[in-house]
Amino acid sequence: MKGRPLMPFAITAIIGILLMVSLSFIGLNERAEMNADGEEAEEIEEFEDPIAEGQVLAEQSCIACHGGDLSGGAGPALTSLEGTYTVEEIANIIQNGQGSMPATGLNEVEADAVAQYLLSISE
Ligand code: HEC
Repeated sequence: MKGRPLMPFAITAIIGILLMVSLSFIGLNERAEMNADGEEAEEIEEFEDPIAEGQVLAEQSCIACHGGDLSGGAGPALTSLEGTYTVEEIANIIQNGQGSMPATGLNEVEADAVAQYLLSISE
């Protein structure tokens, strides 16, 4: 009897988690399709301030794995890439993934902006 009232909460929680996971997969798929379809049609604009844009994008796209302050999480720290990677190499990792890191779905200009931002904060 004592444990019973908890069941509805557990079920709600499980449904909620399943919903979140499936929605984020749907989102990822749609994003990937958009990039594939829009590649030639869509004109990619340069950013006026790549480092500021890069910071916003990094906060959206990288902190889930690399930690809130990019000092490492599931993925390694991104705060001292200077001397290890060039802008081009970082942009390539962002666009295509590397090892256990998946491609992020950012376009060329976005990846370049994030790479510039990461080198700008590099210690
Ligand atoms: C799904 C999780 C995930 C996301 C999202 C993610 N990364 Fe990663 N990243 C990883 C993992 C895991 C590695 C280690 C890959 C390996 O070498 O196996 C990695 C490695 C890297 C490396 C190489 C670091 C080194 O020291 O060799 C760079 C650079 C990098 N990520 C940049 C980014 C940037 C920039 C973003 C956001 C645009 C990003 N990552 C988003 C998981 C992620």
